[in-house]
Amino acid sequence: MLGNDDWWRDAVVYQVYPRSFADANGDGMGDLEGVRGRLDYLAGLGVDAIWLSPFYTSPMADGGYDVADYRDVDPMFGTLADFDALVADAHAKGIRVIVDLVPNHSSDQHPWFKSGLRERYIFRDKPNDWESIFGGPAWTQVEDGQWYLHLFAPEQPDLNWDNPDVRAEFRDVLRFWLDRGVDGFRVDVAHGMIKAEGLPDVGPKDGPQAEMLGDEQVPYFDQDGVHDIYREWRPILDSYPGGRMAVAEAWVSSPERLARYVGPDELHQAFNFDFMMADFHAKSFRTVIEKALKEAELVGAPTTWVLSNHDKPRHVTRHGGLARARAATLLMLALPGSAYLYNGEELGLPEVLDLPDELRQDPAFLRRGESRDGCRVPIPWSADPGCGWRDPWLPIPAEWTGLSAEAQEDDPDSTLNLYRAALRIRKRHPALGGASSGTLTWLESAKDVLVIERDPGLVVVLNTGEEPVRLDWTGQVLLSSGPLETDGSVPPDTAIWFQR
Ligand code: NOJ
Repeated sequence: MLGNDDWWRDAVVYQVYPRSFADANGDGMGDLEGVRGRLDYLAGLGVDAIWLSPFYTSPMADGGYDVADYRDVDPMFGTLADFDALVADAHAKGIRVIVDLVPNHSSDQHPWFKSGLRERYIFRDKPNDWESIFGGPAWTQVEDGQWYLHLFAPEQPDLNWDNPDVRAEFRDVLRFWLDRGVDGFRVDVAHGMIKAEGLPDVGPKDGPQAEMLGDEQVPYFDQDGVHDIYREWRPILDSYPGGRMAVAEAWVSSPERLARYVGPDELHQAFNFDFMMADFHAKSFRTVIEKALKEAELVGAPTTWVLSNHDKPRHVTRHGGLARARAATLLMLALPGSAYLYNGEELGLPEVLDLPDELRQDPAFLRRGESRDGCRVPIPWSADPGCGWRDPWLPIPAEWTGLSAEAQEDDPDSTLNLYRAALRIRKRHPALGGASSGTLTWLESAKDVLVIERDPGLVVVLNTGEEPVRLDWTGQVLLSSGPLETDGSVPPDTAIWFQR
């Protein structure tokens, strides 16, 4: 509950993608009042915190990751007063609030860019060979012949972090939201703000640069200077009471590089995306879990676990079905550290694959043909044909009435109730509550099966093979992601929590 400075170490954080979460004013677009109206649902789910993706003033060229005013709420999402009411109500229910911070780039509609304050952006006479993550060149030319850098869409010019005014501005933006009571920040493109001296070319490569990111170092990501920024920010966070934290979205090439973002003088956490990218297979999971634990050891702080977010296909679809998604969820929620859930995963929502092209809004779709809209379809709340939405900004599949929160509410086997049960046990079980401190031991297992013991006596079994697995211990199944065999064996694509 509130008051514990280390709350984030084992927190379950629920990501709200505001456009798609809940719509209070009926305009087809989610809003802050909609989130406030669902706080009881979130408290009932058992999450410790929500992370709000950007709700700031934005022309929405990239779903709000193009910010035109870092200190205000876009009218489509409400007002600053709505934000304050949301924070107050969330805190009253024991839910903390993390907001997104987008420091690598602003919107091209930000007053700085519009009024031609070029020294606060990265302008050059000639472009280099850098490519946008969304595809195409990372440079756009303006009327007088100069080029500006945008690692993402052209509407998202990169800020110049060598400029002291930029640094001062973001220190002030941090304080603005901390003063309003936020409990932390999710730092967008946390590895991107500093570019290599002289902006050198990447050089020859086999495919699009976006495909090498995370495996190799490029001159625009993960540069040493970025750590100075976090060393400037950390004292600001620490000067506020109640454990204000920051988590980095940093795509880097190794756990050692990721560990550099975390520490008592930098950020509190960094997303461990390897877990999200792992295949549904015992071996892949074990490899990434061991890597993440190594990173946690390096920094002396627990890691984070993520299965889905607003940038990747939902894990029901990625892992090949709901049974697997539920099993992977039980694995994630039993691991030491904090877990980040993405809105709708508790309903077992799949990726929507058949959105008509003309409705897709992701700038990456227009430039690279890959779209993240399928994981951003609005959340089905009720079992009526509109799922509780009137004219939603992306169409909700007709069959989602059956996946709606209302339809799942009273079904003991629903995915919603699986998440609720898992979070309840996680909070109370001595091996999982304070999940950061417990130990993790790998037990011997058959091929394609993962068996982990969390001290004391909680065993997690995940069967990714084709045969049922017999359990040799005496004890009790606390929770199972799906039905067990009649003799108690764990079927394929199933995970259990077992107390021995
Ligand atoms: C990462 C965000 O998660 C993504 O949605 C966005 O497009 C880019 N950063 C650019 O801000």
